[in-house]
Amino acid sequence: MKNVFGFWRKKGNGSVSVSVPDSDNIPKHVAIIMDGNGRWARKLGLPRIVGHRNGMKAVKRATIAADELGISVLTLYAFSTENWKRPKDEVDFLMSLPQEFLALELEELIQKNVQVRMMGHTEELPEHTISAMEEAIERTKNNTGLILNFALNYGSHREITECVKELARDVKDGKIQPEEITQDMIGSGLLTGGLPDPDLLIRTGGELRLSNFMLWQTAYSELWFTDLYWPEFGREQLFAAVTEYQRRTRRYGGLS
Ligand code: FPP
Repeated sequence: MKNVFGFWRKKGNGSVSVSVPDSDNIPKHVAIIMDGNGRWARKLGLPRIVGHRNGMKAVKRATIAADELGISVLTLYAFSTENWKRPKDEVDFLMSLPQEFLALELEELIQKNVQVRMMGHTEELPEHTISAMEEAIERTKNNTGLILNFALNYGSHREITECVKELARDVKDGKIQPEEITQDMIGSGLLTGGLPDPDLLIRTGGELRLSNFMLWQTAYSELWFTDLYWPEFGREQLFAAVTEYQRRTRRYGGLS
């Protein structure tokens, strides 16, 4: 076991605890449900939007740590198809964050060879959100490092429904027979087509549910939950999650 990412932390009693992911078993794809911005803000007596802005800072920490670990894809659930139900002010603020984040971080992302992507029903996002994301996607499209994939206006039910409609059209047009439909065809017809399924799914904020996030793709993902709120998330938590992932035996329904 190589301890490449030496990560040492002094405990209160002076002893040292360690969370050292093994560089030979790094999850390729880590997906995160970034929950708890609002509760974090409430805990501090602050408006919810301050929670979201601090959530943006956690996005940066998670990205740097994922890059350091050699993770290939980091997918972040930034806005769901259900989040439109929130008050307009909050939705507007959330829609301004990609622009704000990229204004601050795009140059560094380019320097770090990060490739920015987005997935979701993104054509329904406000123009300023789309143009900020498209600029980042364009400017990083040839980068070969970490894929930083923002799920924006993403919802698994809708994603699967659209994929089924597309396959139904192919059947109607006589391109395929119903019995020729395979799991691979469904997988590649989803918005994540071409990406590996998440090996590790992280959710912050203490809730134990998937909230319509990558329901097909997480069939065999390892799940890691923390009570910490998303603005409290950083390198230490990502390292801890990956270390825990490495302790698991993945059997995919078979025997180890
Ligand atoms: C859920 O917490 C969080 C969201 C709906 C938004 C997540 C967005 C960010 C973390 C910032 C994204 C940054 C970029 C750059 C796109 P919540 O508001 O539901 O928290 P609560 O459950 O405590 O109310």
